[in-house]
Amino acid sequence: MVEKTAQYFPPPSNLNEAIRYSLLGEGKRIRPLLCLGFSQAFNGNQAEALRLAVAVEMIHAYSLIHDDLPAMDNDDMRRGVPTNHKVFGEANAILSGDSLLTMAPEFLLKELSALKTEPQKIIELVIKLLEASGHQGMVMGQALDMEYEAKNLSEVDKKEIESTLSNIHKLKTGSIITWSCLAGLYTHPNPEFIAKNACHVQSIGQRIGLLFQIVDDILDETSTLQELGKTPGKDQKSAKLTYTNLHGLKDATIIAKHLILEIKEDLEGLQGTSNWKIISEIIDSLRKKLPA
Ligand code: IPE
Ligand code: IPE
Ligand code: MG
Ligand code: MG
Ligand code: MG
Repeated sequence: MVEKTAQYFPPPSNLNEAIRYSLLGEGKRIRPLLCLGFSQAFNGNQAEALRLAVAVEMIHAYSLIHDDLPAMDNDDMRRGVPTNHKVFGEANAILSGDSLLTMAPEFLLKELSALKTEPQKIIELVIKLLEASGHQGMVMGQALDMEYEAKNLSEVDKKEIESTLSNIHKLKTGSIITWSCLAGLYTHPNPEFIAKNACHVQSIGQRIGLLFQIVDDILDETSTLQELGKTPGKDQKSAKLTYTNLHGLKDATIIAKHLILEIKEDLEGLQGTSNWKIISEIIDSLRKKLPA
């Protein structure tokens, strides 16, 4: 699938080199794995799942390139190497993000049509991906994240700020993680089965997304550049609204562990599934990153 994806961004071109640098770099591939894991659990169509996995990684790679820009988090390191704009310049970084964002639906429409996936299914998947990525999803989360950076929290009601924080995390990280889980379900051949399970899978996806971002907040405080591949301590320095900055490390860890238990219960409640190996490994890998 990597070769197939790379064909869409052929050399020689500075722009395509910048795209390949971020898309094919050494990420953990959590979103593609969620997509493949849910597809596997529901005995879905693997060829479809692979295409959906690539599309969500395109959206994710774009979001990281833009997230690292000086106008946003201003980060120099990502995945153990300099960030995209540090290597290719800001203009190429912005444009490679733009290209990945537009490429994701183009890739899905072309590749799923070629697989003869039902048109209605393709439309639903693309609409949901665009909703999850845009101003109703990740982009709104990023906007709120920036808005609340360095805000004087003592002036804001505690309950209000707690719900704003969980909303930011659900949007900026949870939206495309939720889509990844749902997309795995959508590779099931039966539309009735998909409709019956969509709500349940969506709520599991939201919890996994929230958990994932809380763990990321915790690692910013507890991890090293070597382990993390990105500069730690940035959230505290820029006074980001994060779980560790608002609740403290101990309570953030308790919240994360509680979410893991809820996710496990949720997964047990899903009918008609068989193999949860990939998903269990993802959840376990997150749990292992938490302080004891
Ligand atoms: C980083 O995502 C951005 C967040 C939503 C926390 P990942 O931790 O999945 O980044 P890579 O792809 O593995 O580098
Ligand atoms: C980023 O959250 C979420 C995105 C949509 C990219 P962070 O800003 O916490 O991610 P890192 O820590 O830079 O990877
Ligand atoms: Mg950010
Ligand atoms: Mg960031
Ligand atoms: Mg972070």
